Formats: sequence, structure tokens, C-alpha cells
Amino acid sequence: MAEKQNALPRHIGIIMDGNGRWAAQRALPRSAGHREGAKAVKRTLEAASQLGIAYLTLYAFSTENWSRPPEEIQTLMDLLEKTLDEYQKSANKKDWRVLISGERDRLPAAIVAKMDALVRATAENKGLTVNLALNYGARQEIAHAVNRLIKEGLQTVTPQDISLRLYQPQIPDPELIIRTSGEERLSNFLLWQAAYSEFYFTPVLWPDFNAEELQKALEDYRARKRRFGGV
Ligand code: FPP
Repeated sequence: MAEKQNALPRHIGIIMDGNGRWAAQRALPRSAGHREGAKAVKRTLEAASQLGIAYLTLYAFSTENWSRPPEEIQTLMDLLEKTLDEYQKSANKKDWRVLISGERDRLPAAIVAKMDALVRATAENKGLTVNLALNYGARQEIAHAVNRLIKEGLQTVTPQDISLRLYQPQIPDPELIIRTSGEERLSNFLLWQAAYSEFYFTPVLWPDFNAEELQKALEDYRARKRRFGGV
């Protein structure tokens, strides 16, 4: 009997890595790598949307990224703000729904306001859900869930109690997590949700990622045998 193939994942998480190395290879400043990275984000959203992927979580800024030089943080925040502006104009046309996962503290007020406006404006859209992980850390997310449970006064908790109090409890766990640039680690991304995720690592640097690279990841995923602890 033919092996059962995995269907299309409903939810893909992406750790977008390698912007700095892409720039260094061209003797360009790191900011140039991030700008190209923002273009790759757009391409990837279009490709995922056309393929019929339901949820895409993008690791845009981690809680650890605050330790980067201030100029680099500024570049990333400027790019984010520009991206939020663009999506505010185009997300409804594309029927994309935007969600933001992360802690709001430390983010510039202008960005928080634009995030909220975009989430509100796209709340009813039915196409691709783009979950931007922004000032995101998975341990912080789990602590956030546990703090809610403490406030609610629960004495014992089940894994489901925790799942239901994460930032986006309505999103199914990611079947596939992609990391670019040859690094093979989770770096505090979706630790709880990744319990049964398949991982796909590619040496391609994030600014070079495109529809074809996404297809390769999906082909690889299709061939995996997912057993969830069974036989
Ligand atoms: C990793 O490259 C990338 C990031 C720090 C975050 C991703 C940011 C973008 C793709 C740009 C804008 C994002 C949006 C959503 C508009 P790195 O700097 O760690 O690369 P390196 O490991 O080669 O130094």
C-alpha cells in the first residue's frame, strides 16, 4: 500500500534568519539585509496565500532582539511600521487577517497603535491569517498563560488549560516550522505549540526565500511520517 502523504499544513511557523549574513556577503550594512528580508516577507505571504495555507506565524522580532545595537533595532522598528502601514492599505483587498503575538511593553507606542488598528481592520477577513510574532518569546508566552491561570485561581492545570491561555488559542499548532540560514534551533519560538511540529531547515538566507523555497519545504513535509507518539 502506498505511504499516506501529509496534506498541506494548516499552520506554518517561520524563523526568518540570515538577513545580516545576506548583507555581509554583499558588503552591505545589516539594514540592507533587513530591507530585503521585508521583501521576502511579502513574497512569502503571497505564496502561502495562493497555496491556501490558513495560518502563517512569522518570527519578526524576539524578546532577545532588544540586545542588538540601537541603530539596528531602529531599522527593524522602521521596517515594521512601514509594513504595518502597507498592510493597513492592502490587507482587506487580499482578505488577509493579521494577528500579533508578543508582549506590548517596550514596543514604541506608534507601532502598538498601528498593530491594534490593523488587527481590528482585518478581524473579519477569511483568507490567510498572518500571525506576526513581535516582541515575542515562547517562555514569556507560557509564563503569560500561567499567570492568567493563577489569577483565575485554578489549583491544578492540564496542558489544555495552558494551550487555551496562550496568545492565540484559536490557531492550531503548527504542523511545520521552517528556519532559514542553516541554523537548526528554535530560539524561543512557539516552544509549547511545537510539541509535534515537523522541522525544515534550509541554508537559504531569509532575503532569498521565495515561493519556490516554500514549495521545497512543503514537498519535504509531505514525505514525512507523522506518528504523534504512536507506531
Ligand atoms: C534575522 O536576521 C531576522 C530578524 C532579526 C527578524 C526578521 C526581520 C525581517 C524579516 C525584517 C522585517 C520584518 C517584517 C515583518 C517587516 P539576522 O539579523 O539574525 O541575520 P544574521 O543571523 O545573518 O545576522
